Amino acid sequence: METTDVKNILGLQLPTDPRWVNLAGISLEEILTDHAYCEQKAATSCISLIQRYSDKDKLVRELSPIVTEEWGHFRLVLAELDKRKLKLGKQRKDDYVNELMKFQQKGGSQEDHFLDKLLIFALIEARSCERFKRLSEGLEDPYLRNFYRRFMESEAGHYHLFIELAETYVDKTKVRQRWQEWLNYEAGIIQTLEVRGDRMH
Ligand SMILES: [Fe+2]
Ligand SMILES: [Fe+2]
Repeated sequence: METTDVKNILGLQLPTDPRWVNLAGISLEEILTDHAYCEQKAATSCISLIQRYSDKDKLVRELSPIVTEEWGHFRLVLAELDKRKLKLGKQRKDDYVNELMKFQQKGGSQEDHFLDKLLIFALIEARSCERFKRLSEGLEDPYLRNFYRRFMESEAGHYHLFIELAETYVDKTKVRQRWQEWLNYEAGIIQTLEVRGDRMH
């Protein structure tokens, strides 16, 4: 995938999350730890969606294998830590996700709520994809570059799936409109994180 393709697919307002610009200043242990939790959260988020929306057949069928895939990702990251005798550190507070949650519609219809959930997950997948792209280009070790390239492709697929699920259950025009609102809001979060100089979650 070329850089421009990724940008087009993601449709994000800003190309790069500033938390991931200065890779040299971040230890591999921190990168892998942060990544491990991101995969773990992806798996548990899919499980929550399945539990909450068990009446939506397509969602249940499509997200079930993603749970396995995300958990597999978590195990791959653990294996990389073990291989290097690095430790899985503590989970950090996730300011990015916490800020995203604030934009969810309060008091809207069930459909609005459902749509927001799917779009939040789409955004998180899109940003993961972008982060992995950054790592696949910025790390020194060719093995790790390839490692992250594969993650990048996988998360891009998940981003697509969440948008596709939204369009399955909600009117497409409404999905597009709300997605645009989310993109604008998300761009603001990234800017705030940049101003505060946060490096990672
Ligand atoms: Fe993943
Ligand atoms: Fe994912």
